Amino acid sequence: MSIQFNYQNAGLRAHELEYARPLAEAAFCAVEDRCGPGHEMLGWLDLPRDYDAEEFARIKAAAQRIQAQSEVLVAIGIGGSYLGARAGLEFVKGPFGNQLREKGVEVYFAGNNLSSDYVQSIFDIIGDRDFSVNVISKSGTTTEPAVAFRLFKEKLEAKYGKEGARSRIYATTDKARGALRGLAVTEGYETFVVPDDIGGRFSCLSAVGLLPMAAGGMNIDQVMRGCLSACSAYHNPNFMQNDAMLYAALRYLMLMKGKQVEILASYEPALTMFGEWYKQLMAESEGKEGKGLFPVSASFTTDLHSIGQFIQDGSRILFETVLWVEEAQRELLVPHDPANVDGLEFAAGLSMRDINEKAMKGTLLAHVDGGAPNLVVTLNRLSDYTFGELVYFFWKSLAISGYMIGVNPFDQPGVEAYKKNMFALLGKPGYEDMKSALEARLGK
Ligand code: PA5
Repeated sequence: MSIQFNYQNAGLRAHELEYARPLAEAAFCAVEDRCGPGHEMLGWLDLPRDYDAEEFARIKAAAQRIQAQSEVLVAIGIGGSYLGARAGLEFVKGPFGNQLREKGVEVYFAGNNLSSDYVQSIFDIIGDRDFSVNVISKSGTTTEPAVAFRLFKEKLEAKYGKEGARSRIYATTDKARGALRGLAVTEGYETFVVPDDIGGRFSCLSAVGLLPMAAGGMNIDQVMRGCLSACSAYHNPNFMQNDAMLYAALRYLMLMKGKQVEILASYEPALTMFGEWYKQLMAESEGKEGKGLFPVSASFTTDLHSIGQFIQDGSRILFETVLWVEEAQRELLVPHDPANVDGLEFAAGLSMRDINEKAMKGTLLAHVDGGAPNLVVTLNRLSDYTFGELVYFFWKSLAISGYMIGVNPFDQPGVEAYKKNMFALLGKPGYEDMKSALEARLGK
């Protein structure tokens, strides 16, 4: 495994871990035996072993076709239908992957908000260049991607004609249900399937994430290999030898001790979107029935100059999980300057990676001293393989911790509330009864 988990700065006494152990083991068994709430949504559990090889080959072929026909891919989706792919691409290609274009097409993500300025900016970025679209929605009825798809489909048809557009549209959706499936069949788009037993936030290693990742130049064979390695490692029923189970137990203990906020802190800007993916995974899975840790993500050292003050000294409601990457992909040394006007000569000759490490270690000790316990997840490097491993580590651990706090980690009933109000305010048929009451509350 290229992931190591360290909890020596969790501030726990030995008996506390023992206290959580039986609950963690029971939750682990409920996941493995597929007998807990929502167990019908555990299709991701053995995904790296039993994924659809025929569809996987089609994904790779489609990615090559996209690369041959376009400079840009617009991936349209929201929540679990976009976060994993975006996290993966930035994890491997870095935050400037689209500008550097070392491999694959530029990938832009749309349909994850309702901002017209955002969509217009993507139109501007595409300009006269060739582009393709991957529209991704498991339900096929989500408003944000549906609006964006209409806009990009119109652009495609205006540029290439209906027939030409058809060969540039790839739809990833349910195998039988939903408006997007109907549209794809009617229009003749190439389609990929979101498996029935995999929910949105567990879907990034199905066609949902794999097609945009492959088109953007990621090696999805390596992603699946990394995922398989984690799948085998975290299948281990031995509590002390299974880091996913240990991490779940530690998160549970933090919650029991009143640490209600978990900050996933990384020291690589390439992990910023991974933090967004993690937030959705944790919040949508655990935040229900008045329970759960509130997940926050932070990019250090940047955010040490914003939320660092609070972490050090504010309400003692939080703990940190630090994501640390051992190797820098490309190293830089601080240059010598004998004049030393900036007073930085003490660091001359050091690598930025080494300075980053000292910042991480110094911050960890300061935050622990300030009353913010730290857990550390170390990766040897950022690669396609380690992305697959890390995704599975968090999936497995979250499934266990969700059962430990007594929720169904695989549903998301709370996401519906805003949609109903929005539909009523927009005048969608079927929501007429709600409209006037909502408008009265808004002061109309
Ligand atoms: O994790 C989830 O289930 C959600 O975040 C969904 O992925 C999100 O709401 C998008 O749903 P859909 O793919 O049906 O458009």
